[in-house]
Amino acid sequence: MSNDSPLKAILVVLTVALVCSIMVSVAAVSLRPYQLAHQIFNQAQHIVKLADLMPTNAEVLSKKELMDIFLQLDARVIDIDAGRFEKNLNPVTFDQRNAAADPERNITIPAEYDVARLGHRSRFASVYLVWDEGRVKRIIFPIHGQGMWSTLYGYLALQADLNTIAAVTFYEQGETPGLGTQIQLPEWQAKWQGRQLWDETGELRFRIATGSVAPDSATARYEVDALSGATVTANGITNLVRYWFGEHGFQPFLTQLRETPPARADN
Ligand SMILES: Cc1cc2nc3c(=O)[nH]c(=O)nc-3n(C[C@H](O)[C@H](O)[C@H](O)COP(=O)(O)O)c2cc1C
Repeated sequence: MSNDSPLKAILVVLTVALVCSIMVSVAAVSLRPYQLAHQIFNQAQHIVKLADLMPTNAEVLSKKELMDIFLQLDARVIDIDAGRFEKNLNPVTFDQRNAAADPERNITIPAEYDVARLGHRSRFASVYLVWDEGRVKRIIFPIHGQGMWSTLYGYLALQADLNTIAAVTFYEQGETPGLGTQIQLPEWQAKWQGRQLWDETGELRFRIATGSVAPDSATARYEVDALSGATVTANGITNLVRYWFGEHGFQPFLTQLRETPPARADN
């Protein structure tokens, strides 16, 4: 076939396209286990930090040592709507994101509750109980919701009173660098510590403020400082916290926990 033949040009283009697509597919498939392992490790790191179990020598901790700490946590799956532990699902293998996309295991969020703009969510969630001398010291909840451009994923740890925030983290987001990504700044996340979700009347008051929080203001204990130039993302955070700790989120589970505190072996 002559080099000037249009058929030859098409064949060459098709062959190159085919070879390249095979290479990309092979790379994607073969790298998938590494990506998954990285994701699991990344989340484990965040959860161990929130559990307040990160040793002081964390920078020299091997992956295995960190995973060992993570695996010692009391992980449980809960049925969000029934507000109780779901003993038939394995917390190690349960994947909340997969469940959210599975019509058998998800639920549509009624518009009046959907402040986090999720559309639907998993009926189940993995929570992590942190024990201290026979009592629950912290409970770590997964949270997510819409920011400005992306879904923001994080964890929020509540203290034993089930109202005071022990710590927060956002481990995945796709907001604009320098603007919405400020939600990942450790110094901003540290400001959440000690803030409360509900007031004495049971009203969910927590929010990201519109400016700096005046420490002596009446609402200071429910508010975290605004993020400069990122009000849209910050509002997304307020909304996702309000969704997940509201009536359609973890409130039934928290009500049940207040009535019947969990037992260590109750897994
Ligand atoms: C290209 C571009 C990207 C932006 N990305 C974000 C973002 O990720 N998060 C956010 O809250 N605001 C973002 N903004 C700014 C918002 O449009 C809005 O101005 C801002 O949230 C208001 O915050 P402020 O009240 O603190 O000024 C972006 C704006 C532009 C032009």
